[in-house]
Amino acid sequence: MTSPKPRVVLGVSAGIAAYKACELLRRLTESGHDVTVVPTADALRFVGEPTWAALSGKPVSAQVWDGVADVPHVRLGQNADLVFVAPATADLLAKAAHGLADDLLTNTLLTARCPVVFAPAMHTEMWQHPATQANVAMLRDRGAIVVEPASGRLTGKDTGPGRLPDPAELFEVARHVLARGGARDLAGRHVVVSAGGTREAIDPVRFIGNRSSGLQGYALARTAVTRGARVTLVSANVALPDPAGAEIVAVGSAEEMHKAVVSAAASADAVVMAAAVADFRPAGYRDSKIKKTEGAEPEPIRLVKNPDILAELGGNRPAGQVIVGFAAETDDVLANGRAKLARKGSDLLVVNQVGEDLVFGRPDNAAVILGADGSHTEVPRGAKEALAEIVWDLVAARLRPPSPD
Ligand code: CTP
Repeated sequence: MTSPKPRVVLGVSAGIAAYKACELLRRLTESGHDVTVVPTADALRFVGEPTWAALSGKPVSAQVWDGVADVPHVRLGQNADLVFVAPATADLLAKAAHGLADDLLTNTLLTARCPVVFAPAMHTEMWQHPATQANVAMLRDRGAIVVEPASGRLTGKDTGPGRLPDPAELFEVARHVLARGGARDLAGRHVVVSAGGTREAIDPVRFIGNRSSGLQGYALARTAVTRGARVTLVSANVALPDPAGAEIVAVGSAEEMHKAVVSAAASADAVVMAAAVADFRPAGYRDSKIKKTEGAEPEPIRLVKNPDILAELGGNRPAGQVIVGFAAETDDVLANGRAKLARKGSDLLVVNQVGEDLVFGRPDNAAVILGADGSHTEVPRGAKEALAEIVWDLVAARLRPPSPD
């Protein structure tokens, strides 16, 4: 017997980014989801009914007066496993926050008891307006996931926060929320994740780097977004798409990462240092390219120590902040891990065994997570996302209850 397809209602409101929702729809249907598209009437000005009907394989209606005998305004919401609104305009967010129900989508939002995700897209001014922010806060308080918009080029010449995130990344959000049933145990929390590998410049064309791909840190950021957290992702030299909903701070060197992480950590409930940070950097940066001299030995590169970000965070943190480090070890994995956990003053240390073909650039990972409280959690080889979920489970269990205000 085949299991029934997860039922998704894809709400589309009237923003130019409606065209990107076609790609999200395609990914959902191709991966075995049963999708009903519910556009608003004005959304159909951007992408017409035949496109939605052809891509979903179902009739499409924007209002409650079609097929009344089936009571679609109630049935769609009641039967859905997920309602995902992309793009969500300022107007749609306002209606949803205040419980207005003047078309099929807003009726569906009132009858849905499944997880609801909004992916807002609008101009920066509209997004940052106190009215919109208050509506978003209200929706989040009520349990909805509102994915932060991406920053970048908007419809006109302007740039700023307000773009609909990449459809492939929105699809990841949908997939995660369906898999976890919409549990939002990190709602109201700010988490900082570092990812990738730092590069320490030798001269304008050369650097000392490492083989970190950023996959584990990106998986941590993605999973934290779907668990409701505000996520700052400090990313060093990563060639991966931006996870939907995370604020990305791009850095190059360990010193830049130090500055960015320490600044973001000031307001964070948890910091996870998944980045491979260079312990040393060249003592002096050469402004021009180092040339080889025929017949002469190359000059040695003298190294100096970089700040140890994790140790600094562990030694001086706001009350209640949870700190997680990663350790890549080739030998005596557990003993080295325990010693490192104590040395760095972290609450948790995710210890991986690394080698030529282990961990770096691979989508899977195996680890032991050591706790400062003596706990020991074995994570069998599996997707980096599965490890990320376990890290957040352990972090969530260590967070203080949220303050009542
Ligand atoms: N880390 C950091 N700042 C550094 C170096 C490392 O914050 N300058 C963090 C990494 O992000 C990781 C953890 O520390 O979370 C472990 O890093 P690792 O380099 O393995 O630990 P070290 O203490 O440098 O130990 P060793 O190199 O001797 O294994």
